[in-house]
Formats: sequence, C-alpha cells, structure tokens
Amino acid sequence: MSRKKNFSFLAAASALALTLTACGGGTGGNEAGGDSGGGDSGGGDSGGTMRLALNQTKEHPSYITLTDFSERLAKATDDRWDIKVYPNETLGAQQEALQLVSDGSVEMAIVSGTQLENLNPNFKVFNLPGVFKSIDHQMKVLNDEKIVGDLFSSLEDENITVLSGGFTQGARSVYNSKHPIKTPKDMNGLKFRVQESDIAQSMIRLMGGSPAPMAYGEVYSALQSGVIDGAENNEISYLTQKHNEVAKYFSYTEHLIGIDYLIINTDTLKSMSDADRKAFQQEWEQTVKDFTAMWKKETKEAHDKLKAEGVKFNQVDKAAFEKALAPIIDKNLDNKKQRELYEATKAAAE
Ligand code: GCU
Repeated sequence: MSRKKNFSFLAAASALALTLTACGGGTGGNEAGGDSGGGDSGGGDSGGTMRLALNQTKEHPSYITLTDFSERLAKATDDRWDIKVYPNETLGAQQEALQLVSDGSVEMAIVSGTQLENLNPNFKVFNLPGVFKSIDHQMKVLNDEKIVGDLFSSLEDENITVLSGGFTQGARSVYNSKHPIKTPKDMNGLKFRVQESDIAQSMIRLMGGSPAPMAYGEVYSALQSGVIDGAENNEISYLTQKHNEVAKYFSYTEHLIGIDYLIINTDTLKSMSDADRKAFQQEWEQTVKDFTAMWKKETKEAHDKLKAEGVKFNQVDKAAFEKALAPIIDKNLDNKKQRELYEATKAAAE
C-alpha cells in the first residue's frame, strides 16, 4: 500500500518507539498472533496492547479517562485489546506522535486540532476563533457524522483515522509574566507561545502580540528563562503544567474553544474484528462523555486552586478582541469544503 508522507521524518522519535516495541508493547494485531493482515475484512482473532502518546500529566482529565477507556475496552473484548497511555510526551511531542501513528510504531495518540490542520487544511475550520459558541455546540458538531465523516477519514492515505467526538480543550485564554491583558494593545511587545500552526500564529498577531510556535512540553522552561512572555491555554493545562509558577497573569480572552482528537493507526483499526471495532467505538463514545463532564467540573476546581496559589485573573474587553480577530475567518475559508464545514457548524448552533 503506498502512503504519501508529508511529514518531516523524525528519526529520533521513531527509534524511541522501536525500543518500546522491543520492550513488549503490542502492535495492534500481531501481538496476540492474530491474522490481522491490515485488510478491510475486519475478521481474525487479532488483539494487543495499543500504545497511546499523550502530552498531558497523569492529573489531566485525558489521562484519567483514557485509562478508564482501556479497562472498559479490555472487558468488552475479553481482554483482546487494551491501551497503555504514555503521558508527559514520553513517546514524543504531538508532531512526532503524528508521524509515529502514521508509520504504525505507535498505535494511538491524542493530538490538538492545530496539528491536523498541517496535514489537511480543512481541519482548520474547527481551529478558528469563535467558531464554537460553547463546549456543547462543539461536541454536537464533532459527533455529527454528516458534518465530520469525510473530514475524519481524509487522513487514511496517511494511515491515520480520526475518531468522532474528541476531548474539548474548553476556552483558551492568554497568560503572561508581565501584566494583566485587558485590550489588544496590552499584548504589544509581548511574545506568546502558540501551537505549531498558521492559524495559531495569525491569531496572536491579530490579538496584538508576537507568536512563538513551540511544543507544549517546552513552554514551562521558555517562560521561566524569559524566551517567551506568555502563552495561551485553558485553566486545567495552565495548572497541570504549572505555568502559573512562571506566568501569574491570566486574562480571560476566551478567544477560542479548542479540540483534541483521538487518532489511531488505520491498519490497527482495520485489524480488529467487527465486534471488537464496535466495542472500541462504543467505549470511545463513553469516554468522550465522561471526559466532557469531568472537564466542566475540573475547570471550576482549577480556577479556585489557581486563585489560592496567587494567580491574578482578570476579565478583558471581549468586544475589542472579537473585532481584532474578525478578519481571520474570511481569510481562512479558502475552499468550498471549508465554507461548507463552517456553515454547517454555524447552523448546528441554532
Ligand atoms: C491543550 C491541549 C493539548 C495541546 C496544548 C498546547 O493542553 O489539550 O492537546 O497540545 O493545549 O497548547 O499545545
């Protein structure tokens, strides 16, 4: 099967994954001696431990709910399949994880929508500021096969399948080490870390700051050493990554509601028997529900905890930020498919 590769190949990350394979991780299909073949038939007695690359800590709701997902999956498939979650970027940051899932050295990963925008630009519609009006709106759209079906199977040439739904990142806001941000002018002269995507960079420029793309795991030390002045994220990531220790001004711009996708190596998914694949899908849907409920509860708890730890929260001039960001929508809807996705998303909010 020919695969078009448009990643920059990361030899170091692949070498790490191979070492892990040798240490006993399953390769989804071959581990249990099953006749996986990677075909479309979905038969066979395949199974194994699927490794999942995650960039969050063990305290983050994604690690907790994915661990439960593994237990339920094992039960539902009579122990044929389970998942070992590797937190803290131990299998590589998200860009590496994409490559590893594509070449099959790791079976699954959680990656931010911004990463998929780099593989298929149509994903960027869901990364735009203001596209989702609430977490419930976001979940309704991303669970709707009619809207996302084609998009989510569009990376199968790369051997990557995107599962419906996803883990919300909630509303993302800016934080920095210098002063409270109230209007776009307050961002002038400050350098903010962004995720590695064009949208993320133009967003910070329009908001008044300078963008510095880098991997999530590098942000703490970049803030600490003063290489950057700030970053943007939700309260739970800010807390679990301890960024509050090095950037205590958190300003509620709430400029976008982000999304993390579960991606799985397509050959691994196809190697599952029909019944096991169905169980996998069902348990994933349950995981998305559990995650969303936990997210809402923990966001409130994170806020209180951060406040007690001395974080200075402030509200911003929302209208000024919305006005500054408005041009990003038209500038980024550059084909028919993107406009359709955008319109369908807006219609789902009504
Ligand atoms: C959130 C999100 C991650 C993402 C991170 C980032 O924490 O859940 O998937 O990598 O933001 O800003 O890089």
